[in-house]
Amino acid sequence: MKIKNKIFSVLLLSCVAFSSAQISKFTLDLDESSTNIKIQPTMYGIFFEDINFAADGGIYAELIKNRSFEFDELLTGWKQQNTQTLSHNLDSGFLTIYSDHSKTNKNYARITVHNDKKYVLENEGFRGIGLHKDAKYDFSFDLENVSGNISAVNVSLVDENGAVISTVPIIIKEKGWQKYKAVFSPTRTVEKAKLQITFTGNGVVNMDMISLFPQDTWKGRKGGLRKDLVQKLYDLQPGFLRFPGGCIVEGRTLAERYQWKKTLGNVADREYLINKWSSGFAHRLAPDYYQSFGLGFYEYFQLSEDLGAEPLPILSCGMACQFNTGELVDLEKLNPFVQDALDLIEFANGDINTKWGKIRAEMGHPKAFNMKYIGVGNEQWGEDYIKRYKIFEKAIHAKYPDIKIISGSGPSPDGDFFDYGWKELKKLNAQIVDEHYYNSAKWFQQNAARYDKYDRNGPKVFAGEYAVQSVKVVSPDNKNNWESALSEAAFMTGLERNADVVTMTSYAPLFAHADGWQWTPDLIWFNNLYSYATPNYYVQKLFSTNKGTDLLRIYHNKNSVSGQDKIYATAVKDSKNNEVIIKIVNTDSEKKSIEINPGNIKLGQKLMKIVLTAPALSDENNFKTENIQPAEDNSIIKNGKFSVEIPANSLVILKIK
Ligand code: AHR
Repeated sequence: MKIKNKIFSVLLLSCVAFSSAQISKFTLDLDESSTNIKIQPTMYGIFFEDINFAADGGIYAELIKNRSFEFDELLTGWKQQNTQTLSHNLDSGFLTIYSDHSKTNKNYARITVHNDKKYVLENEGFRGIGLHKDAKYDFSFDLENVSGNISAVNVSLVDENGAVISTVPIIIKEKGWQKYKAVFSPTRTVEKAKLQITFTGNGVVNMDMISLFPQDTWKGRKGGLRKDLVQKLYDLQPGFLRFPGGCIVEGRTLAERYQWKKTLGNVADREYLINKWSSGFAHRLAPDYYQSFGLGFYEYFQLSEDLGAEPLPILSCGMACQFNTGELVDLEKLNPFVQDALDLIEFANGDINTKWGKIRAEMGHPKAFNMKYIGVGNEQWGEDYIKRYKIFEKAIHAKYPDIKIISGSGPSPDGDFFDYGWKELKKLNAQIVDEHYYNSAKWFQQNAARYDKYDRNGPKVFAGEYAVQSVKVVSPDNKNNWESALSEAAFMTGLERNADVVTMTSYAPLFAHADGWQWTPDLIWFNNLYSYATPNYYVQKLFSTNKGTDLLRIYHNKNSVSGQDKIYATAVKDSKNNEVIIKIVNTDSEKKSIEINPGNIKLGQKLMKIVLTAPALSDENNFKTENIQPAEDNSIIKNGKFSVEIPANSLVILKIK
């Protein structure tokens, strides 16, 4: 019995050895027979929405939450140390909120201090305040000395245990509102610090706009954006920046829609609004999630310019989020909404003598932003949308015939709403239709040929929001694992192969705060100090930075390559760098030997091979390590046909001069 087992084991082992030595072969034929299809510079872009604390608490580098007491719960984020620790002990002082309803930033705090005791007010930041050792932080607040004599005001940064990391005294001047400034330089790195303002003496002061910003922001701008996060966007070399969403454009009600005009001018005067995602999901409630609009439309345009990306603003079309109230503006009352769109184009592109061009110039950008695209509505569906879209389209094109309009086809990539939207939009000769897909890994792999049969004479497609959902859409358990990224890569070969139809694409959502997210998966995760790129990010980056300029054909047995033997492929030429770039995705758990026949294309001998893979499909990156990253390898190939090994479960980019 024992001997029999041994023989069986030997047989089994030799079978395993034999099968692992065997690599299945697959042939790809390149063909230049001029497709004349250009890869649009907008092919791979960015979808930005203030969800998951992406703006306030994220890329907008302000570290103080509710800095001017404008949240509906006026003291959200603030704690009075004496009254919280010892209830009804008003011994050292108290706080009252005053409101001036003639202003957009209406509230301020009045602090009354007595008995020469210490009164402490504390801000918790956005899930804490992230501080880097020795970095510099600009602190400021507006203070009015009302009466009495407050002998000392100390502003301190304290760690999770209350130990002081950095402190500065503020000398209070005479009466009247004044802006006081100080610079902090923390002696330690702390992820969840707090800001404490300590008042001593007897007297009354008013206080507003308490602000703390790192000095080391993107491009060193005062009150600017978080550098590590913008750098990650910059590294994607995005073709466009879509902003400000997403459902946030629509709002839960029309009153809560995104109104770009309210996001201009002095940041201190921008009116706060509750964030739609504060109550998006019962399992991830965030009642402290507001929009300060410190990152407003001017800053979005500026960011687009910094990134070298086309600005793509999306505006409300008079319909609140149909997943919420679906509140509608009557067609006869739509005019202000349409006017917002026309004014926005003037704001971005108008001469400095125009009303809105002048405002742009006054904010610091006399040169036009050269905006070419505008989105009408986010993810609307049904007859109500088509009726409103028609009105917008007519008005926009009457005044600005060159502006390209993005219209929507609803939240799903198929079904009645989708079919109806497309049918109507085709009839209306819509220019670019936005499609959204949040689906399983299997769906993405099976849909790599989705656009092969799309109408070549119809509207172009903007694959405006997509991401593999490892569990199901809006599940809090969705992961940014390697399987999801690999399946997106497989699908993206189909987007690129159909670059004559699909002209814009973007993964969604973009950012997530590790302690403050509502929606997962997301492209980039961050906490108060650091950020990491997901495998999905690296897939986006590899496609975007290797998008080339012209489409080439690549075939397997004369068919486009979209899943045969679990291989997906696309090829482009980069006429600027004189390169052929082939992208191959292998979703098989076995490596493949791929023979590439260059056909009529004369290739050089230097091959650069970039491989993105992971040991297991469930692997993820995290704050400690980005294990899943592209690895580069250079080799020499012979002229004519050559073979490359494509690892199991990998995305491989081949670049040949
Ligand atoms: O990306 C998250 C949300 O998904 C977007 O806000 C919305 O457009 C879609 O439903």
